[in-house]
Amino acid sequence: MDSARINHKHNVQVLAIMAQTVALLVITVLRLCVSYAEDHTALPRQRIKSPLAVSEIASPAATALPPVSSYVLNTNGQWDSAISKARSLVSKMSIEEKVNITTGMGWQEGRCLGNTPPIPRLNFTGLCLQDSPAGIRFTKGISVFPSGINTAATFDKKLMYDRAKTLGEEFRAKGVNVALTPMMNLMRSPYAGRNWEGAGEDPYLVGVVASLTVKGIQKNGVIATAKHFAGNEQETNRNSYSSYISDRAMHELYMWPFRESVEAGVGSIMCSYNKVNGTYACENDKLINGLLKGELGFRGFVQSDWSATMSTLPSANGGLDMTMPGDIQFHSGDSYYGKNLTKAVVNGLVKDSRLNDMAVRVLSTWYMAGQDKDYPETNFDSWDLVPEKFVDVQGTHAQVIRQVAAASVILLRNEQKTLPLQNIKRLGVIGDDAGANAGGPNSCEDRGCDRGTLAIGWGSGTAEFPYLVTPFDGISSRAGKQFKIIPSLDDYDYDYAAKVASEVDVALVFANADSGEEFVTVEENVGDRSHLQLWHNTEKLIKTVADVNPRTVVVVHAVGPVDMEWANHPNISAIVWAGLPGQESGNALADVLFGDVNPSGRLPYTIAKATSDYPVRIEKSKDIKYTEDLRLGYRWFESGHVDPMFEFGYGLSYTQFNYTDVTIDKKGYNVEVNVTLQNVGGVDGAEVPQLYLEFPSEADQPSKILRGFEKVFLKAGQKQTTTFNLDSKLISYWNVESQKWVVSKGDYIVHLGASIRDIRQKITFTI
Ligand code: BGC
Repeated sequence: MDSARINHKHNVQVLAIMAQTVALLVITVLRLCVSYAEDHTALPRQRIKSPLAVSEIASPAATALPPVSSYVLNTNGQWDSAISKARSLVSKMSIEEKVNITTGMGWQEGRCLGNTPPIPRLNFTGLCLQDSPAGIRFTKGISVFPSGINTAATFDKKLMYDRAKTLGEEFRAKGVNVALTPMMNLMRSPYAGRNWEGAGEDPYLVGVVASLTVKGIQKNGVIATAKHFAGNEQETNRNSYSSYISDRAMHELYMWPFRESVEAGVGSIMCSYNKVNGTYACENDKLINGLLKGELGFRGFVQSDWSATMSTLPSANGGLDMTMPGDIQFHSGDSYYGKNLTKAVVNGLVKDSRLNDMAVRVLSTWYMAGQDKDYPETNFDSWDLVPEKFVDVQGTHAQVIRQVAAASVILLRNEQKTLPLQNIKRLGVIGDDAGANAGGPNSCEDRGCDRGTLAIGWGSGTAEFPYLVTPFDGISSRAGKQFKIIPSLDDYDYDYAAKVASEVDVALVFANADSGEEFVTVEENVGDRSHLQLWHNTEKLIKTVADVNPRTVVVVHAVGPVDMEWANHPNISAIVWAGLPGQESGNALADVLFGDVNPSGRLPYTIAKATSDYPVRIEKSKDIKYTEDLRLGYRWFESGHVDPMFEFGYGLSYTQFNYTDVTIDKKGYNVEVNVTLQNVGGVDGAEVPQLYLEFPSEADQPSKILRGFEKVFLKAGQKQTTTFNLDSKLISYWNVESQKWVVSKGDYIVHLGASIRDIRQKITFTI
């Protein structure tokens, strides 16, 4: 036979063997599919990858320029010992027991919003997972804290931590194992409904809030949850849209706060409802295995958002460690994990090692938090607000709440020393937002209405108010008999409002703008905001008041930016931005209005002159392209030279500060910047010096970016030096080509100032 024929015969044999193998494979796969189809509505897609197991995560590898992993967890030692304890426990478990660790019991099948079952023979108590970032949801005897956005507005690291530590105490005392906070999606669009749960438009600021929140919560042995990873920057169509985010924007913007949380030792990360770059976040191998577990070296567990799990195999192999609340849909009685996961493991479609990894991740986090010893039992029932045992966990937390709320008030305008209130005989308090919701502050489920003063948004990010101090009550109790307060609390009674306003020395007029999560619709807003106007036509109320009183003070309770054309009225002499301050709202406001607390809040977002100046609206299409890319928030306004109405970082005080004597000391990539601040006004107060870094052109940043801030309290006349430290992490950018954080060579200009646009000093260093 000639060689051509031999080859031909050989080829035929090879083809026959290949055909046989393919046929066998097809039959096997078909069989598996049939067995899945029995109790599985949506057929799982085949995709088998080998995800990174927690035990495989190497210690930081040293590469040339600052590798991400060099910042990973300073608690590696503790994790190692928690992991070995968890491994030993898992080695005693059956497949079903391990699967139970990864599968919630189902919606309303336990006392908490999410529950995993106990394994009594191994002394594992099971887990209670509960909202929210502002307070413990669905129970009583708890506090409602200032929102995330107000926490950011304090620009005060100590208060950010104190708030979280106090909130964490409540979670612990109620027996919650996993607190579903902090929420750290960025304010990409002012219209996004859940902006108020987060910390604004700048990833560095959000990262600081996230990190301190994680530390404060976890200080109590409660496991914190960084959510929602990733690209969940609007509510509309959140179950089906895909966010298309560039690699660089993902690293420098959207992933940044999660990286900070991982470095702070966060125990859990929640993947979001939406898709990212075409793949659902909770089965996104690149996102979970690649970025979170691989690049960031995250050692805790990834849990799904509620019903955000879309499959068995892609999810389990893509890195999802726990499905919540467990059932595919609420009350559907089935699960993508549970029996389906057991089958997948038995059939070898999910490796044993992966199931072990899932269980080890959950249990090592539990050990890390010290929850294996003396952890309080869950002592409330989300579905029955009158439980057999009532534990009041408020303690003296109202003090911290009031402090944070007062520190978050942003004074946007104060002409002719209108504030603090002094030398007045009659004060008008005008607008529904100054008063109470007639049905009580909790009369609408999940705070899904806007009646009376607005102190928190709506949705899962809320809790039941123990009480809510309204502005009218707070101001009245602070004023005592000093002067007369005349209320006009009907938003639509313009005649009476004008009458009151014309008879008083100062007219306070209140207005608000609300938003929330998509499962509640309030006044035609399906979570996201359908407009940026103030609610209830209060622009007209403001104008009515300002037309007759030259000392009109507008107080706004808003979830984010609003259209502020009304602010051009010449009689509006002061504007007080109070955000969503929580239960102590009125007291904290009075603290600032009367000058007991000198305002020191700063805007954690940009307020534009015209709504058309914002780059991002709510997208109706299922493909959401993040085309503004790195030009998020102030980076957009700065790079396009668009003047905002009030810029990022802005906020006034009752005193003034000077910035002098800036110096720099550079050792390698470590840069120390010093600046001296002096309180040159007549009263004590706090300043927020901000450091914005302008990168060399190679880094191709759209504008200077926030890389440091401090809150500095100075008595009148006092002078003090503030130090900022920059390191390789803060001066690097994500290089897409090399897939590394890189420090570019060239000149870096350090801008120090009181906002992104109010730069007082500059100094340069060179790499
Ligand atoms: C929200 C999460 C929340 C979960 C549990 C979801 O709708 O997106 O933030 O933690 O519900 O209530």
